[in-house]
Amino acid sequence: MNNVTLSIENEVAVVTIDRPKSLNALNSETLAELGEVFSDIEKRKDVKVLILTGSGEKAFVAGADISEMVNASPAEGRTMALLAAESFAKLENMPQVTIAAVNGFALGGGCEISMACDIRVASENAKFGQPECGLGILPGFGGTQRLPRLVGKGRAKELIFTCDMIDAQEAYRIGLANKVVPQAELLDYCKKMAAKIISNGSYAVSLAKAAINTGLDTDLASGLKFEADAFGLSFSTYDKKEGMTAFLEKRKEKNFKDF
Ligand code: HXC
Repeated sequence: MNNVTLSIENEVAVVTIDRPKSLNALNSETLAELGEVFSDIEKRKDVKVLILTGSGEKAFVAGADISEMVNASPAEGRTMALLAAESFAKLENMPQVTIAAVNGFALGGGCEISMACDIRVASENAKFGQPECGLGILPGFGGTQRLPRLVGKGRAKELIFTCDMIDAQEAYRIGLANKVVPQAELLDYCKKMAAKIISNGSYAVSLAKAAINTGLDTDLASGLKFEADAFGLSFSTYDKKEGMTAFLEKRKEKNFKDF
């Protein structure tokens, strides 16, 4: 891989987009490599949480690669959007929890890939925005769909139509960032959050993730039905017995087996 690195430790995969000279802009090669890494991770049993970040101290991802898009045809633009849609859907729906460690600019496709993650933790210097309309295009990596779902229709329209860049605190205020931490502590904070998530029943966490994602894409009655089915399924697990027995025995340590 030329533009993406992967390291795995303590059941946590850190995926780093590594094109610092162009502020980690997403070109087609990087999108394809991310797709491969996500396909690999979604099948792995030894990874429970994926942390996605950008290399360097300035940018998470400054967007899709403008130098690649400038001469692209409509068909090529559409292909790029579809390539991103496929790999971002893997990120969004993999059974593992995904955390975007937003270490700087998260613009355009950068903001969009962070929104395909379950949780966004921003460093104090992070900046979010959807500057596409200023380039004569529109958000094409999911921004018109995921941003309103996260921050509401009015705020999403304002951000997309004005192309305003917002800082980490404002992103936190509107619910785009879950948390803001000093840049030097960002990865450690995300790893601690990962460890806390992993200490719970991972199969239950992945069922809860599927219920939330499925429910937000459907009507309330269907979402509640999915939840009831998933809830019933969790009663068949070793972890349900172990988690509840530990509570009744007033035992803090739980020996979850993730099934
Ligand atoms: C290609 C990029 C890039 C990008 C930065 N660079 N962003 N190259 N695509 N998205 C390159 C610059 O050209 C420059 O290369 C180097 O990275 C450093 O960037 P500077 O502009 O010199 O840094 P600075 O002045 O600090 O400004 C940082 C910045 C600015 C505010 C983040 O780079 C910027 O506005 N970038 C573009 C952001 C953007 O519009 N993103 C949305 C893209 S469209 P050189 O060679 O000069 O050193 C998109 C659409 C998604 O994402 C959907 C598509 C289907």
